[in-house]
Amino acid sequence: MARYQYRDRFYRQAAERGWPSRAAFKLEELLERFKLIGQGARVVDLGSAPGGWLAILSRKVGQEGRVVGIDLVPCVASTANTITLVGDVRDQALHRRTAQALGSPADLLTSDLAPKLSGIAERDQAKSLELIEAALAFGRSVLKPGGAMVAKVFMGSEFEEARRLFTHDFVKVSVVRTRASRPGSSELYFVARELQKIH
Ligand SMILES: C[S@@+](CC[C@H](N)C(=O)[O-])C[C@H]1O[C@@H](n2cnc3c(N)ncnc32)[C@H](O)[C@@H]1O
Repeated sequence: MARYQYRDRFYRQAAERGWPSRAAFKLEELLERFKLIGQGARVVDLGSAPGGWLAILSRKVGQEGRVVGIDLVPCVASTANTITLVGDVRDQALHRRTAQALGSPADLLTSDLAPKLSGIAERDQAKSLELIEAALAFGRSVLKPGGAMVAKVFMGSEFEEARRLFTHDFVKVSVVRTRASRPGSSELYFVARELQKIH
């Protein structure tokens, strides 16, 4: 029962604020806590549909900022500072299109990417790690030196490898659980800061 009351609070509040999903609370919490961006920032959001994170990012960066959202499925950009692209984040051609749409290197890349689950743990963990690798490759391509990333990860067998990859690329890596995550969920976020120049 407690679980359902908990879920309802976030669903109700998302609806009241006109946000497309409860996922928005998780990002809002992380941005507040780590002070990752301000007005005028440039942000790339991977796995952006149905647009919960885009709504938060658009408000945070303001009129002078720019947000580019990417997803396999179409997602409407409802504000003037936001552009959405349809595609697979593993497609390298999207790096170039995104950089063009941003106009200058990104301050932050967010990834809420989640694979379609097969129910076969080994296969799902491999898919999840593949998306994390794709998000990191995207980050290396579009972020400015010293830029930051927020990325969802699950506490499965892929977790330690994902952490190793992040700590290779970023100076500071925090592993965070948000209050808006469902109780019992294995969902965690990497908050990675200070992208290093990798040779
Ligand atoms: C949890 S949802 C994102 C929710 C979103 N952050 C929000 O706040 O509304 C995960 C998204 O990842 C997208 N996705 C999964 N694999 C992808 C890929 N290879 N390329 C692009 N998007 C992908 C899915 O289509 C899905 O919309």
